[in-house]
Amino acid sequence: MTEKLLLLKYILAFLVCSSFLQIVNNSPIRNVTPTKMVRTHENPWIEHWEIKKQRAISSWSYTDPEAWQHSFPTCGSNLQSPINIETASLSAYPKFYFGNYGNIDRMTVTNNGHTVLFSLPSSIPAESIPFITGGGLSNRYNFVQFHFHWGNDSSHGSEHRIKSKKYSAELHLVHYNTKYGSFSEATKYDDGLAVLGVLIKVGKKINSPFRAVVDQLNEVDEDGDETTLVNLISFKDLLPSRTTTFFRYSGSFTTPGCEEIIIWTVFDDSITISESQLSKFRLLKGRDSLTLVNNYRPVQSLSGRTVTYRSHSGCHITINWSHISSPIVDIYQYSTCVFSFYANSFLTILGVNL
Ligand SMILES: *[C@@H]1O[C@H](CO)[C@@H](O)[C@H](O)[C@H]1NC(C)=O
Ligand SMILES: *[C@@H]1O[C@H](CO)[C@@H](O)[C@H](O)[C@H]1NC(C)=O
Ligand SMILES: [Zn+2]
Repeated sequence: MTEKLLLLKYILAFLVCSSFLQIVNNSPIRNVTPTKMVRTHENPWIEHWEIKKQRAISSWSYTDPEAWQHSFPTCGSNLQSPINIETASLSAYPKFYFGNYGNIDRMTVTNNGHTVLFSLPSSIPAESIPFITGGGLSNRYNFVQFHFHWGNDSSHGSEHRIKSKKYSAELHLVHYNTKYGSFSEATKYDDGLAVLGVLIKVGKKINSPFRAVVDQLNEVDEDGDETTLVNLISFKDLLPSRTTTFFRYSGSFTTPGCEEIIIWTVFDDSITISESQLSKFRLLKGRDSLTLVNNYRPVQSLSGRTVTYRSHSGCHITINWSHISSPIVDIYQYSTCVFSFYANSFLTILGVNL
């Protein structure tokens, strides 16, 4: 009797498990087989991200993003970022895990003429480096740098748009796939980088944790300036309060050479900073001492790509294989959830709650 029940338990568990695997395999990101990218040219922007202090060989500007493709052919390709997110299909991604997303001391801030970029101090111990896992990523991705995009006023400034809505600014937290050992090695593969996009709104209240980000911007007001932060940056406060819902698509760098190697995550929840905090960015100077504003790329065509969305009520599968307390209940709940994802994945979300 108990043996029969046990057998039934395992058959059911197997069926449920295999249907889940099928769903995971159906998701576009998981389907990407890592292929080595052929680099057509050295990318000074990537080099800069490693803070090698190299200056751009070929210059580009935000005044004519359409012209980027003449010097950087990939910019004219069809998996480009940013995009306007109109519709998305549901996907059963697990939640993100944010490792070491606490306080980081003595970060380096660099004005590279195109943005202001915050990177880790070289003295940081390997075990303290912020990282992400989960969220549908197949590996651990270590943090490298974060930077911003903003407008000349608060009616625009974000790179991504949700249902055509422009936000006042956008934060990009750049991570590389640790299976490739280093950031520069990871940039050779199409699953090499994962960037978290956080949309920024302007509100009345000062965002206190954000003070550390803007307080020393005046020390890097010229192209090429660099400084060390005296205050801690709290990584978790850079994220929106809800990180369980997000959009996912395959895309590119939003700056030349526009390499198509980025697994993009755009959170639909945003963060809010004050107008006075955002205006500090607008005082920076970029290339040729011009005011550094409107440093965002216009939205690119989706070209047949699918955007997926992790909804708040995504399946949280926590099957404990060694001990299934009440298999019928566990499996019933699990199957219902998986079934609803099957059904939903054919629908598009029309009313994403913003
Ligand atoms: C802001 O930038 C836009 C686009 O370049 C320009 O048309 C507009 O005049 C600028 N506004 C101000 C207040 O400078
Ligand atoms: C599985 O359940 C048993 C009994 O409740 C528990 O002792 C064990 O730690 C659980 N394992 C995991 C991985 O959660
Ligand atoms: Zn960016």
